[in-house]
Amino acid sequence: MCGIIAYIGKQKAVPILLEGLKQLEYRGYDSAGISVIQNEKIITLKAVGKVVELQNKIGAQDFLGKIGIAHTRWATHGKPSDRNSHPHGDCESNIFLVHNGIIENYQDLKKILQKKKHKFVSETDSEVLAHLIEEFNKKPASTRGDASSTRGGLDFKKSVLEALKLVRGTYGLAIINKNEPDKIIIARNGSPLILGIGKDEFIVASDASAIVRHTDKVIYLDDGEMAQISADGFEISNIKNKIVSKEISKLNWTLEESKKGGFPHFMLKEIFEQPEVIANGLRGRVEHFLSEDNFPILGGLRPIEKKLRRIKKIIIVACGTSYYSGLVGEYMLEEYAGIPTEVEYASEFRYRKPILDSSTAVVAISQSGETADTLAAIREAKNKGALTLGIVNVVGSTIARETDAGTHTLSGPEIGVASTKAFTTQLVVLVLWTLMLGRQRDMSSVMSKRIAQELKNMPKLIEGILKKSKEIKKIAKKYSYAKDFLYLGRKYNFPIALEGALKIKEISYVHAEGYATGEMKHGPIALIEENFPSIFICPKDSVYEKNISGMQEIKARGGKIIAIATTGDKEIARIADDVIYIPKTLEMLTPFISVIPLQLFAYYFGVAKGYDVDKPRNLAKSVTVE
Ligand code: M6R
Repeated sequence: MCGIIAYIGKQKAVPILLEGLKQLEYRGYDSAGISVIQNEKIITLKAVGKVVELQNKIGAQDFLGKIGIAHTRWATHGKPSDRNSHPHGDCESNIFLVHNGIIENYQDLKKILQKKKHKFVSETDSEVLAHLIEEFNKKPASTRGDASSTRGGLDFKKSVLEALKLVRGTYGLAIINKNEPDKIIIARNGSPLILGIGKDEFIVASDASAIVRHTDKVIYLDDGEMAQISADGFEISNIKNKIVSKEISKLNWTLEESKKGGFPHFMLKEIFEQPEVIANGLRGRVEHFLSEDNFPILGGLRPIEKKLRRIKKIIIVACGTSYYSGLVGEYMLEEYAGIPTEVEYASEFRYRKPILDSSTAVVAISQSGETADTLAAIREAKNKGALTLGIVNVVGSTIARETDAGTHTLSGPEIGVASTKAFTTQLVVLVLWTLMLGRQRDMSSVMSKRIAQELKNMPKLIEGILKKSKEIKKIAKKYSYAKDFLYLGRKYNFPIALEGALKIKEISYVHAEGYATGEMKHGPIALIEENFPSIFICPKDSVYEKNISGMQEIKARGGKIIAIATTGDKEIARIADDVIYIPKTLEMLTPFISVIPLQLFAYYFGVAKGYDVDKPRNLAKSVTVE
């Protein structure tokens, strides 16, 4: 995810900014950039790759400027390149800014600004903000709307305020202006921003890790707040320009803790990030399906819209957790889009003789976009003339580049080896694709709206489950004796049983198997003996009764049962030894919420055993070998 750092004070800004960028590296990024005000000019340097590349570009140059902003970019709009890296400037190179978040209406704003003769150099949504601020800054308030006037506009702060009123989306922003060279303006809406208060200096960052070594006194900006900072002090106001008084907090995290946002492990941080990243993945996308758009299409698929209408078969290729999200996708795409879908282990795909033609779409699902098996499968499919599509998290990754089209999952970097937020954001894209392909075929707009509306609820429902983490931790401890687990589920929750078993296997090194409940009696039931634990994913859905029968069969043989059940289900509490309740939702969307207790269960189980859950033995985050 992108990172912001800004400095104003009595020291040279560049070394402090570079050091701050290095602290933000752990978040993952693909380019970095810096702007510093010096001798009445703004000097900007950018580099694709690591911060060290930027440092090499700076080389021996000694910048004396004491005000600057810097950024690590994780590409969302436009590939990683110097041009797309932040800071972004206006036409006159007066105003430069760094931005985290997504400006949803940037296309509309860009069109308006282009008509007013603004020249854009990047493909990003962020650059629009610099031009928008310029538009207010360069013109007298009375002649706004008249593109001919060029000087005497609103002051810097008011220009930012006016610009932000027009923006729809999320932002964490740090902005400098050559014509008011003694200040930085920062603003927040939906993207974190922290103001660090040092001695005669201020450090702003999107993340405490870039601040801790300078000061432990911080102010957390809230949504809708902005600050004007000079070397002597700061003033915080809200978007209506009313002064806000804020409490100064004390940072009591170590550097390591701050990178984990105060969580003991990245895995737990990433589990808790899910409401936020799912909301990110929906923003600007789900609205199409709620509006009166007849046949909505997602941006990344627009160029192949016609081809998608002709698709007769889908083959999903993926590995590990991504494969399991593909299995959920199979149920959705067949039930709601009416397209025959197969899911295949990417590692097996090219060793079969897949029958492919131009009416088949082969979809690669991959968090990293670099998994060798998945990449090889996509290349094979391409050679055979199939349309190749990607559901990938890392923008600019090989799979994202080599597929014909696709949609990014926008979950931000996933650092814990065990995949969590990548999985649920893959599900988001699969639901959106189901809606889009469904609408191109038989799905009614009433149905698509119903699903889209409920999809928007997922962040809230997940938040509710995360609040039960203490209860789940207790249950995980209770079963810490177990050396084996069975995970069971049916239909949409069969892949969740597989995913739950993979999670606990990966980080706790216990044997676990995921099975379709109906298959249990064909073999695994032989494992059941006194106290053998089975985890049943058993929401009140169309296969509820069948799951209950499976549960009774295990109970009769002395096994223990942990059930993931729908709130209010009293019957299940009579059979299961422990119940974790999840709220009611549409059947096809239950995987979003049934997987959360399983992620937490695996996490707490692994931690109780004393393992390094972020870096399990023998595993790599990105498997780039066959
Ligand atoms: O980056 P990818 O999504 O292509 O990775 C696929 C698998 O290697 C990955 O999901 C792996 O199974 C995870 N460790 C699961 O937690």
